[in-house]
Amino acid sequence: MRILVTGGLGFIGSNFVRSMMDKAEITVVDALKYGSNESNLKDLDYNFVNGDICNYEIMAELVKGVDAIVNFAAETHVDRSISNPYAFIESNVIGTYTILEAMRKANSEAKLVHVSTDEVYGDIEKGSFKEDDMLKPSSPYSASKASADMFVLAYVRTYGLNAVITRCTNNYGRYQFPEKLIPKAIIRAKMDMKIPIYGTGKNVRDWIYVLDHCEAINLVLERGERGEIYNVSSGEEKTNLEVVSEILRIMDKPDLVEFVEDRPGHDIRYSLDSSKVRELGWKPKHSFKEGLKETVVWNLENEWWWKPLVDEKILHPTPWKLEW
Ligand SMILES: NC(=O)c1ccc[n+]([C@@H]2O[C@H](COP(=O)([O-])OP(=O)(O)OC[C@H]3O[C@@H](n4cnc5c(N)ncnc54)[C@H](O)[C@@H]3O)[C@@H](O)[C@H]2O)c1
Repeated sequence: MRILVTGGLGFIGSNFVRSMMDKAEITVVDALKYGSNESNLKDLDYNFVNGDICNYEIMAELVKGVDAIVNFAAETHVDRSISNPYAFIESNVIGTYTILEAMRKANSEAKLVHVSTDEVYGDIEKGSFKEDDMLKPSSPYSASKASADMFVLAYVRTYGLNAVITRCTNNYGRYQFPEKLIPKAIIRAKMDMKIPIYGTGKNVRDWIYVLDHCEAINLVLERGERGEIYNVSSGEEKTNLEVVSEILRIMDKPDLVEFVEDRPGHDIRYSLDSSKVRELGWKPKHSFKEGLKETVVWNLENEWWWKPLVDEKILHPTPWKLEW
């Protein structure tokens, strides 16, 4: 099987490539934007194309002759989307549209797995979203992802493309760019710096270990039905304060928490009902406790990986206030 992985040098994409190396012939296309890191896959032998998914000529060439495409390529940091929304419209909306167009014009029979997010539903105080619930994105990031999802569904319906969508909750694990909550907290704690938490720290996210997400994507690639959407979640709901407190406990550090001005439009709680993907045969293998410990240990043992990526901007307490 030949798989084209877009955004394969980012956090989840590189974990997916790693998990699929012995199952498929992999080509990665990545524009080497800030979230990417060539060292994520430096020990592996795979085909690499330095290219932008918004570039039609490149994508038209790449979709030829592959059996599947997994689209991870995206701008992903909500804080950055608040200060620079246009970059998100480009990569997330126009990029996805370009892949769809390239597939349509090639009469491609490949299966596209479009990797989306729980953030498209917006927040929910009680209960959990199902796949057919209304989309109500809150940030420019989630609005761009929701828009891309709509294009994918339209291309299935209008042109008969073979595409499925996964919507997953917050991931954590190896190779996560240090601007995101968990690696940032680990790195700041290691340096005995205060750890900024937005607002009161009560915002709830459902945390999934990245390799569990990758297994769900692989299963949807194999068994997901054309035009269907699959929510992916582990059910490990934690407040941001609980997450940071657990990191401090694992690292045996004192209370370094510092509450800072909240991000505008900050969603209170995300929660997904993932029974549909579980019916396909998926369930998470890692508990939050185990996965978080593994992630802390990996970051502490692999300073060579994150050190070159870290600067004042990346570790800033309120990145949404910065110009990116
Ligand atoms: N991280 C999470 O918790 C999470 C949760 C649910 C869904 N997702 C989705 O999973 C996907 C991957 O997320 P991630 O956390 O690995 O992101 P990431 O920022 O770590 O990686 C994104 C990758 O895409 C590449 N990229 C961006 N724009 C591109 C373009 N125009 N052309 C080619 N490459 C481009 C970047 O260079 C980078 O390597 C995204 O679509 C995201 O919306 C992420």
